[in-house]
Amino acid sequence: MYFEQFYLGCLAHASYMLASEGEAVVVDPQRDVEIYLKAAEEHSVTIRHIFETHLHADFVSGHKELAARTGATIYMGSQAGATFPHVAVRDGFELKVGKLSIGVIETPGHTPESICLVVTDHEKNSPEEPASPWAVLTGDTLFLGDVGRPDLSRQYSPAQLGGMLYDSLHNKVLMLPDSVLVYPAHGAGSLCGRNMRAERSSTIGTERLTNYALQIKSMEEFVKQLTANLPARPEYFSQDAEINRSGASTLSELPELPAIDALSLKARLEQGEAAVDIRSGEEFCAGHVPGSINIALSGQFASWAGAILGLGSRPVLIGDSQDQISEARMRLARIGMENIAGYLGGGIRGWEDVGLALAKTAEIDVNELNQKLLQGKVQVLDVRREAEWEGGHIEGANWWPLDNFKISPPEIDGDLPVAVHCKGGYRSMIACSLLQRAGFRNVINLTGGFDAWQQAKLPVATDKPVGAR
Ligand SMILES: [Fe+2]
Repeated sequence: MYFEQFYLGCLAHASYMLASEGEAVVVDPQRDVEIYLKAAEEHSVTIRHIFETHLHADFVSGHKELAARTGATIYMGSQAGATFPHVAVRDGFELKVGKLSIGVIETPGHTPESICLVVTDHEKNSPEEPASPWAVLTGDTLFLGDVGRPDLSRQYSPAQLGGMLYDSLHNKVLMLPDSVLVYPAHGAGSLCGRNMRAERSSTIGTERLTNYALQIKSMEEFVKQLTANLPARPEYFSQDAEINRSGASTLSELPELPAIDALSLKARLEQGEAAVDIRSGEEFCAGHVPGSINIALSGQFASWAGAILGLGSRPVLIGDSQDQISEARMRLARIGMENIAGYLGGGIRGWEDVGLALAKTAEIDVNELNQKLLQGKVQVLDVRREAEWEGGHIEGANWWPLDNFKISPPEIDGDLPVAVHCKGGYRSMIACSLLQRAGFRNVINLTGGFDAWQQAKLPVATDKPVGAR
């Protein structure tokens, strides 16, 4: 058997390819499907089958293009209402691929159409014993340390879906033996859940013992916990799910982006259009186009761009090289953001060359921040998610998760300097740039974030959040 996990850090998304006797199956393909075609060629297998575990909301899937390019059949849960040619699968459906069998279990909860795929490798089993499953591809039903959020359906309420998820987990997924490997569709940082672990696979036994959601013993309590304080739901989620229901258009060569000169960019910014600086946070701090938003390529770039800007935005990209610009363009296309206005010709130098001034963002380290806090000279803004805040935070900090910035900036004192932090410094740079764009003048990024604060053994508070003061 051949089995490979393709992990796309930008979207915290895992897709899979399995093959036996020359025949391959792809599960939850990302939008640019070249990687699967290349892997199939390398392993001398033919892609014949494509499964979608559900209608993904956080990215545009490549199932339709991959099917068009390989002639493969697409399989989806019968509740999906998919409008492209596909096989609608239900409980008990089994696909034989060489020595593998892939069994479908319907696991509504994260979404009504969600399915899990139970993989049995008959090569690993002796013919005398009953076949035991090797792994389960859980989509967004069961993650490592978490379960799928139950609030992404228009058809059912979060409470209804939460109840379905409880049943799916306890009466179906957890009926599998403890030794079965668990391969989910998302990892840490994904908004399809709340608090996933950073590893890439687990076992049913480990999740049964350690996953907080599986420790909840009554459906009522499970629904209560799963539907309380749900993470932000970016606007583009419902749009991506609809794109996936009909199947995205083919991602042929993306057209060349036009270069936009500095004066045109300045005019666009004055009209309220967005510019995204894709360079590192340090480079952004040292000098950037005033009003531009720093979403660095180094992190979960596309998810944050989608959440902060929305799919309808036509941003201008600011980068160091054409390679960076092309990379950003592809990563945005993966979530369905295709209408990019262009890129700043000559990058930052192109801005300076016409005599325009750059803005800077101040930085501060944890010890200096601690000193200033003791003197009452600075306020702190924590932009991490709720579970992170609850795990510990800087005493007296304002709390406004970055996801909330799409709704409004935080209500903080505009006159007092504000030191912004997240876990390591990626999200805080996005927040700093948004605050500067919104007119806050004294914005400081905490270098190293809360991780550095903890490493320096500075005091940590654990009270519940009350939101930004
Ligand atoms: Fe999902």
